Amino acid sequence: MRLLRVQVPDFRVLQNVDITFEKDFFPNIFPLGSQNGGGKSTLLQLIFGLLHCSYNPDRVDFLKNLLNGFQVERNERELAIIDIGYMEENVRLNFFAVRKVDTEEIESENEGFPFSAGGGKVRYIFKYSASRNEIEDYVLVSRIDNIDINQIESFLKDLAQKIFLAAPATQVFLFLATNSKKLLFREPTKKNDYYSHLKDAKSKLPGFFTYDFLAVELLTKSLRAAIAEDMREVTETGKYGNSYKELIKDLHLILGNKKINLEPDFYGVNFKLDKDGETVELYPEDLSHGELKRLSIYMWLKYYNIENAIVLMDEIEIAFHPDWQYQIISDLKEWAPSNQYILATHSYELCQALTPAHVKELEPKLLKQNPSN
Ligand SMILES: Nc1ncnc2c1ncn2[C@@H]1O[C@H](COP(=O)(O)OP(=O)(O)O)[C@@H](O)[C@H]1O
Ligand SMILES: [Mg+2]
Repeated sequence: MRLLRVQVPDFRVLQNVDITFEKDFFPNIFPLGSQNGGGKSTLLQLIFGLLHCSYNPDRVDFLKNLLNGFQVERNERELAIIDIGYMEENVRLNFFAVRKVDTEEIESENEGFPFSAGGGKVRYIFKYSASRNEIEDYVLVSRIDNIDINQIESFLKDLAQKIFLAAPATQVFLFLATNSKKLLFREPTKKNDYYSHLKDAKSKLPGFFTYDFLAVELLTKSLRAAIAEDMREVTETGKYGNSYKELIKDLHLILGNKKINLEPDFYGVNFKLDKDGETVELYPEDLSHGELKRLSIYMWLKYYNIENAIVLMDEIEIAFHPDWQYQIISDLKEWAPSNQYILATHSYELCQALTPAHVKELEPKLLKQNPSN
């Protein structure tokens, strides 16, 4: 699954966006740059929201939140055209909004389910509100072209499973409910704080990941799963498997000279460092933010088996030393090479790990560096 092109004529800060992600570029990793406020996060969240949520009735509310304020003045209003490379085909998803009063035909259909709209075209719809009064006056329609009608169901299911968004938890996510977003501007209370709303959203959106301080849960779950796998092997073959050892070895490679191990109760991890022939236990403060973040990205890709997917990553370079900003490109290539990555970034170092043609930009563009540099 590949994102080939995205066009957004007019959504929030995004105006006349038309970006192509070349299928045959190697690696399939595209930095997406602009100055602050250029709309990088908006674009990644829009793509993720549309592809992860619109064909799944349980997730449609997130998309409704994202569309808050998207009003239709007359006739219909284009939201986005997204081209997806799927089994040698270029499937086009066209999302547009219409006013409910103009759409009696649509009104009678079930939301979030496909219906055939004649001419072999399939449409998906749902109603949303663009105003504070919560009356659902608008309908989002998506038309899908260039795919066999019998393949559509499995295509959309695959697509929703193959799109991922990773972002810093401190960011405002447009697909959260207005009330949740408002909490960012309020002092947290015991009952109500932004991060618990974010956690709830994460539990409902399997493709959504935030770079948490350290993905302890992912680490302990993966290590436990590896132990279970080894045990399963002993019951089947009489010999313990190597999954746990292999995973520990992988993590050791990522962490350089530090070693990670599961705590005896299986619900925590510890880190040790070999120094001058001695093994020293490391405390959380002995690990850098960058190391922890790199580890959590690795664990996320491995634990969820993210392969052949479209992976959108926002501000991946935060907490990375410039060398690591450069290095993360080869890390991604090595850790999970079958994915396509789109990396919203402000980092020249990261861009320099690829060719200039890989770098996509939104207005206002990053200031050009002196070409002699
Ligand atoms: N409805 C809107 N219309 C136009 N601009 C908006 C709207 N809502 C937010 N913005 C602006 O969009 C920008 C947010 O863009 P964002 O996607 O976070 O940019 P980036 O990630 O490139 O820094 C902010 O400057 C914000 O003020
Ligand atoms: Mg941003």
